[in-house]
Amino acid sequence: MLIQIKKVEARQFRRVLKSGRTTPLLFECEDVATGQKEEYVVKLKGSLDRRDRGLICELVSSTIARFMGFNTPPIAVVNIDAQMASLIDAIPKDKIDSSIGLNFGSKLLSGGYFNLPNDYPLTNHMEQAAAEIIIFDALIQNFDRRAGKPNMFIKGDEIYIFDHELAFSFLELIGKRDSPWEQAAFSSCVRGHFFYRQLKGRTLSLERITQGIKNMGDDFLLDVQASIPEEWKDGEIGHIFDHLKAIVENADRFIEGVRREMV
Ligand SMILES: Nc1ncnc2c1ncn2[C@@H]1O[C@H](COP(=O)(O)OP(=O)(O)O)[C@@H](O)[C@H]1O
Ligand SMILES: [Mg+2]
Repeated sequence: MLIQIKKVEARQFRRVLKSGRTTPLLFECEDVATGQKEEYVVKLKGSLDRRDRGLICELVSSTIARFMGFNTPPIAVVNIDAQMASLIDAIPKDKIDSSIGLNFGSKLLSGGYFNLPNDYPLTNHMEQAAAEIIIFDALIQNFDRRAGKPNMFIKGDEIYIFDHELAFSFLELIGKRDSPWEQAAFSSCVRGHFFYRQLKGRTLSLERITQGIKNMGDDFLLDVQASIPEEWKDGEIGHIFDHLKAIVENADRFIEGVRREMV
């Protein structure tokens, strides 16, 4: 089964989202195949330090998160054409011009979603989700969910995760890399995590997430890789999938390593 990422056209610029580092833009977008219109928060290639790599990390992380059952907004690849770009003056011109083409969109979550505050009292259900989110971020080597930077919403007691453009941080590492399932590879990621202080020393039930990792078979990972738009170029992409495969093959050791970090 091939993973189909929705492709939509940016039709109307709504506003800039100022809360983040990369000032994503909100667009009303049209699914050309169906005529359906939806609002997407669009991370612009031209606004990301990692450019195409950042877009790829968003797409891969979000697809894996959904596969594992996390709450995360539905995604789309959003085309911004030259005419649309010429109408936008809310951000520097070079940023919008270098974003003509395909960008990363996540469907706008609106109505009852709030940024997760630091040290928010967690229900049992939220605590379980929080433990799994730590594992997820260790898996994708995401250092960008930490105190003051939740990159999570809550609605009721459901936690929603987003913003994975800085995932797979080992891609920028020069020199020897630790095996991704060895504790050293993700230790600082876990210790700096948004939920670390709240969950440290707690008994964590990690069976479900362990199984979720083991379920990422070769076919699934190949499908994810194939779903990346051709237009996004990054010669290092293969390392992302080598990394994921190595963790899948060593899932129990990886989980044990995170558990040791949380004692
Ligand atoms: N799908 C979404 N629905 C609603 N708000 C969103 C969505 N995605 C991002 N945002 C809002 O935009 C802000 C910036 O997006 P984010 O992906 O975190 O980018 P940055 O890399 O700039 O931090 C978030 O903090 C959040 O408030
Ligand atoms: Mg953010």
